Amino acid sequence: MSEANVCVMGLQWGDEGKGKVVDALAEVSQYVVRYCGGANAGHTVVVGGEKFALHLIPCGVFRPEVINVVGNGVVFDPPVGLEEIDGLRSRGVDVGGQNLRISTAAHVVMPWHKAADTHSEQALGGRKIGTTARGIGPCYADKANRSTAIRVGDLTCGESLREKVRLICDGKNKVFAALYGAEPLDADAIADEYAAYGQRLAPMIANTGAVLRRAVAAGDRVLFEGGQGSMLDVDHGTFPFVTSSSVSACGVPAGAGVPPRAVGTVVGLLKAYTTRVGAGPFPTEQDNDTGAYLRDRGKEYGTTTGRPRRCGWLDLFAARYAAELSGTDEVALALLDVLTGLDELKLCTGYRVGDEIVEDFDPMQLGASEPVYETLPGWSDEIGDCQTFADLPGEAKAYVDRVEAVLDRPVGVISVGPDREQTIVHHTNVRGLG
Ligand code: GDP
Ligand code: IMO
Ligand code: MG
Repeated sequence: MSEANVCVMGLQWGDEGKGKVVDALAEVSQYVVRYCGGANAGHTVVVGGEKFALHLIPCGVFRPEVINVVGNGVVFDPPVGLEEIDGLRSRGVDVGGQNLRISTAAHVVMPWHKAADTHSEQALGGRKIGTTARGIGPCYADKANRSTAIRVGDLTCGESLREKVRLICDGKNKVFAALYGAEPLDADAIADEYAAYGQRLAPMIANTGAVLRRAVAAGDRVLFEGGQGSMLDVDHGTFPFVTSSSVSACGVPAGAGVPPRAVGTVVGLLKAYTTRVGAGPFPTEQDNDTGAYLRDRGKEYGTTTGRPRRCGWLDLFAARYAAELSGTDEVALALLDVLTGLDELKLCTGYRVGDEIVEDFDPMQLGASEPVYETLPGWSDEIGDCQTFADLPGEAKAYVDRVEAVLDRPVGVISVGPDREQTIVHHTNVRGLG
């Protein structure tokens, strides 16, 4: 069993069930670290039959000994983060300076970022990305722009925060008025509001890179919690229908401030079928009764926005690309129970363009690609109570075997329901999963 650090990240378009696996591994980790994205994420953890949806706070909060870290690569939205903290506290989950560290270098999602996200999507009309409207893209754009950015460390800097906010608002107000005819933002009111957030967050703000490098040097076990999924990666996903950060395991060192070798074992989350929220190519999409069946059984409505998710067959050609990109050591196969009741199951193992079989997966060429399918028999018995691989119907076992063969990687665990207990240990080599 490997004792190494672990990165849990999605191999598809997000919502693969990362929250459940992070929660499981948190039990044997000292740190749980978000390294990308922001409140666009929605990670579900079910504890004792109670369902929690987390957006900014890492999924280690249900384990009292764990230090949860919001890394520098995250874009932090103070009112959303504080509301989440309050919500968790009101449900008896302890969150505060003792178990949460937010990076001074994480960028702050400001009101103008959310406004820009909404205005920009409206202006794009039929060409919109279908973002979560959480201000993610505009915040990362200002991070790259530098002079118009505000970081978490700035929130506790009084008058200098006010000066920054005034200067930035001045520019944003001109642009928003010209582009969208928008009302001007009140810089002083925003500065007051965000300084107050800074006061509340102060006990949790820290130099998290230093904290994590020290933890790694001391041999503590660090768990990196991916947001979104590899196909939404800003560099390696289906651009421009992506999010704005490096969400694969490649984003861990930069987004957490640790050396590449600290990433450790990579666990790729794979939903047993495919979903996507928002616009963009999706070769195996089933905009038909099969898609509706998957949406219904999988309760495929966005954890963050409530939007119905687009559903389709498992795309192993895309997943293999994502697995290779992150050097995925093993796969966690989730929501297998959702496939129960379908007569036959299709697995996409490749693409073709016309008569030509595509050799290398290219996320820029998906629009022209047709999936090549294998058809496997389905099963009809519910599998939510299965405890071991042997308990699964033969057809479900064959499906899992085929996933392993096409991805050329072991399936470590199989999730057959949202509860902690509904997990089958299969070929894992990760301590905490096995
Ligand atoms: P994440 O963003 O990757 O953490 O995934 P989400 O939380 O957005 O979506 C996954 C949904 O599936 C949540 O409602 C989970 O409670 C649920 N879930 C996780 N694993 C399973 C499973 O094996 N079977 C079923 N039926 N639901 C699951
Ligand atoms: P978790 O961590 C699914 C999608 C949005 C949109 C695109 C860009 O729960 O898996 P953004 O607001 O980031 O600019 O939107 O990315 N998206 C997600 N889809 N799960 C997520 O996170 C997502 N985070 C962003 O739907 O298509
Ligand atoms: Mg989600």
